[in-house]
Amino acid sequence: MFSRRKWMKVLGAGMSALDGWGQAPLRFPGKRSMLVQNDFPEDLETPAEYLNTWITPNDAFFVRQHLPRPKVDAASWRLKVGGMASNPLTLTLDDLKRMPQVKVPATLECAGNGRANYRPKVPGLQWSKGAMGNAEWRGVRVADLLKRAGAGAGVQYGNFNGADQGVAKTPDFIRSIPMRKLTHEATIVALEMNGAPLPEIHGFPARLIVPGWDGANWVKWVTEMELSAEPSKGFFFATGYRYPKYSPAPGSAVKPEDMEVLEGMAVTSYFAHPAHGATAKKGIPLRLQGVAYGGENRVSRVEISTDGGAKWLDAKLSPQNYPFAWRLFTFDWIPPERGYHVLCSRATDSAGRIQPVECPWNPGGYMYNAIERLGVMVEA
Ligand code: MTE
Repeated sequence: MFSRRKWMKVLGAGMSALDGWGQAPLRFPGKRSMLVQNDFPEDLETPAEYLNTWITPNDAFFVRQHLPRPKVDAASWRLKVGGMASNPLTLTLDDLKRMPQVKVPATLECAGNGRANYRPKVPGLQWSKGAMGNAEWRGVRVADLLKRAGAGAGVQYGNFNGADQGVAKTPDFIRSIPMRKLTHEATIVALEMNGAPLPEIHGFPARLIVPGWDGANWVKWVTEMELSAEPSKGFFFATGYRYPKYSPAPGSAVKPEDMEVLEGMAVTSYFAHPAHGATAKKGIPLRLQGVAYGGENRVSRVEISTDGGAKWLDAKLSPQNYPFAWRLFTFDWIPPERGYHVLCSRATDSAGRIQPVECPWNPGGYMYNAIERLGVMVEA
């Protein structure tokens, strides 16, 4: 792992290249320029202009971690499946590689993506729109592991722990996933991301893929699945990543008993191009591009407005049409006249959910999904 001093050196080198948003696009190992939310442990946002390919390359994929990144040695790493199991397992990486492998295309989105848009502001990382990416994950079905371990009839949850450890007052990162999701055929322990072994920063050698669900469930560097009738009482499941059962008034507190665990993600869309504040020329076609995601549902429609939401027209969607994975959209616009134009995108998913004008405020700043809006100045 990098020493603190070495991190400071990298940070120092990057500070000379402050960009217009006041954030430093630094180079981190294996990454192109990212928006740095936090340098240690690394929380790196994908710049919006990279949200323009169906597969997000590994070197442009956002990073979120609560604890310092562990250095995992592949040879001594083990995955333990225990608790309420008649045949507890201790598996090596080779054991996992010998089991049937499946490929799952799925979008990973942090529940806090878009938090920067909430008013009043919510503490936490001020993600704009790049705490999401789409990848093809490959690995072993959790259902196969459950069968092999002889999961007992009373098992309600798999409680997952990774090799990262709590530091000082920050507790260990443990997440509980209910059986109804664990037994889904697309829920896997992934060994590969986009055709390569998982990069260290994304959970090498193995991480959980929980398609359509909040990114907090996608435990990295996973070492343990404890089968239990009870969920974890740890902070990151029992308190963190919770959402109110009702819409609280913006800025108000919510009692812990009125908070529930986050599961499926909301329907959302974001522009990759143009950037907010870009300029365009009257009469010269401009291709608007972006991504739309429906959590556990497919994206069925993306509409665009070029007049601040008065009129809406259908965008063109990319042919990929999977549950759990985003779709790209494009819309060719000919700027009609000089002046400031507000462009909007609004996605609908196969469950009929549609992005709202206003997204309910919540104390964690989660699940932001209001209609995307940005301004373009059209010159004569
Ligand atoms: N797994 C461990 N072990 N520790 C963590 O802090 N962060 C979670 C999840 N898995 C986390 C973790 C959160 S909050 C998110 S959004 C995703 O990992 C981010 O995955 P990525 O860094 O590969 O993009």
